[in-house]
Amino acid sequence: MLSFLTLLVAATAVYAAPTNGTTDVLDIRSGTPSGTGTSNGYYYSWWTDGAGDATYTNGAAGQYSLTWSGGNGNLVGGKGWNPGTSSRVINYSGTYQPNGNSYLSVYGWTRNSLIEYYVVESYGSYNPSSAASLKGSVTCNGASYDILSTWRTNAPSIDGTATFQQFWSVRNPKKAPGGSISGTVDTACHFNAWANLGLNLGSEHNYQIVATEGYFSSGSSTITVS
Ligand SMILES: *[C@@H]1O[C@H](CO)[C@@H](O)[C@H](O)[C@H]1NC(C)=O
Ligand SMILES: *[C@@H]1O[C@H](CO)[C@@H](O)[C@H](O)[C@H]1NC(C)=O
Repeated sequence: MLSFLTLLVAATAVYAAPTNGTTDVLDIRSGTPSGTGTSNGYYYSWWTDGAGDATYTNGAAGQYSLTWSGGNGNLVGGKGWNPGTSSRVINYSGTYQPNGNSYLSVYGWTRNSLIEYYVVESYGSYNPSSAASLKGSVTCNGASYDILSTWRTNAPSIDGTATFQQFWSVRNPKKAPGGSISGTVDTACHFNAWANLGLNLGSEHNYQIVATEGYFSSGSSTITVS
């Protein structure tokens, strides 16, 4: 029970859920409970605020599946590594079928400095770069990405409430959602481009996953990470 509660508090701290304090912890009752760990050699992180119905399933090797419905709440899950690195070339393939606001991204954190980062490969109805400042662009793995950053002030993080930057690469145009999807993300290409714009990740990597996120939406995703 203690570890479960600790897990929920930790998970709540990591993701900036559109929530209502501790009420949400008590509301986590639909679908798969939040959790992190290792599955078949890959690190996974799954978090839901419990407002929507969501089922997260770890598959073989780097595969995971996520289905969500109800048009409510915030959830994010995926597989990858902990710690991440600044040089990993990440492949992903599968299906991604969002209905509404959702992202499919390489997602991670660093410490020293504390940074939350996204390389967004595809998204649903909402372009996540809408809310951030455009810093430049980069071509990686044959595709163009907008580079953006934003500050989060007194926001939830892997180290509790903190003020930190988010760095973003958002593929432009996005990979088409709605069916089969696959790609390669050379993280060094993005991280070097960010650094050239003064956006320096921290020296200590925390987790680095290929995440599917849903926000007041529905959808399904089955992704294999390698
Ligand atoms: C928090 O949730 C309670 C119960 O659902 C609701 O009455 C209250 O208005 C909410 N507060 C905020 C700030 O959304
Ligand atoms: C990633 O994909 C590339 C290109 O298809 C391939 O050469 C490489 O071996 C793959 N890496 C992994 C870890 O699957």
